[in-house]
Amino acid sequence: MSKIKGQTALVTGANRGIGQAFVEELLSAGAAKIYATARNVESLKNLVEQGSGRVVAIQLDVTDLDQVDRAAKNHTDVSLLINNAGIATFEGLIAAKDSNAARQEMETNYFGTLNMIRAFASTLGSNGGGAIINLSSIGGHVNFPVLGSYSASKAAVHSLTQGVRAELAAQGTLVAGVYPGPVDTSMAASFPMDKTAPNEVAKAVLTGVDAGEEDIYPDPMSIEMHAALRGDPKAVERQTSEMLPA
Ligand SMILES: NC(=O)c1ccc[n+]([C@@H]2O[C@H](COP(=O)([O-])OP(=O)(O)OC[C@H]3O[C@@H](n4cnc5c(N)ncnc54)[C@H](OP(=O)(O)O)[C@@H]3O)[C@@H](O)[C@H]2O)c1
Repeated sequence: MSKIKGQTALVTGANRGIGQAFVEELLSAGAAKIYATARNVESLKNLVEQGSGRVVAIQLDVTDLDQVDRAAKNHTDVSLLINNAGIATFEGLIAAKDSNAARQEMETNYFGTLNMIRAFASTLGSNGGGAIINLSSIGGHVNFPVLGSYSASKAAVHSLTQGVRAELAAQGTLVAGVYPGPVDTSMAASFPMDKTAPNEVAKAVLTGVDAGEEDIYPDPMSIEMHAALRGDPKAVERQTSEMLPA
């Protein structure tokens, strides 16, 4: 059975960037219903119109446990959970003036994802297993010092993905980690590299999940870097170590 077509999905951080692209590509791929969630529900207006009845807007900050638990209690038909919401402060680990940026990134990227999975795990189980998609980053496999604390938070998401996959295997939930390179959104606006369009990334991820893939490299740079990491990880580390914070 398809993990996408005819299924009910929930996307965090759906109001822009890759999250918005996920909603659009879920519509194209035949999802039955999509809960598009965002901190500011007004910012989802266009997507709801685009969905012609299939997109439902929900206010949701992934760091707010009350909101997360309410969403899980009120929406028990979810079978595909897309943990997309994330922040990048572009701070170094030592160059940052204090550890606040690092804490915020862990709070949103790691604990936000964990909050959502803990709240929705039993719903997915009741709905046949379903799937969870976690947005890590290629920076979750090798630290980019210019984004040092962000990379560390995405490494935490990678490890969380492996642990949750093991814990939810018995209920048949597919738990996929996604490791993109630079994507053309406001998050990567200051990153001086070739970027892939968010809709191409979202489409590649949904295709991968439908094929049962657990580790998804959805763009040319992530495919290339993943191959390089498998060949000579220290050489890749030396390469990224040249990208230092200002
Ligand atoms: N762009 C890239 O190059 C790239 C590469 C690898 C991985 N990723 C990952 O892909 C995901 C999407 O990134 P993007 O490029 O689309 O970034 P983006 O354009 O900056 O969008 C981030 C989204 O996350 C939402 N968000 C932030 N904190 C939130 C919170 N506490 N609760 C709920 N939503 C929250 C934002 O909502 P507001 O509008 O309210 O701020 C926004 O919708 C992130 O996890 C990111 O780390 C991105």
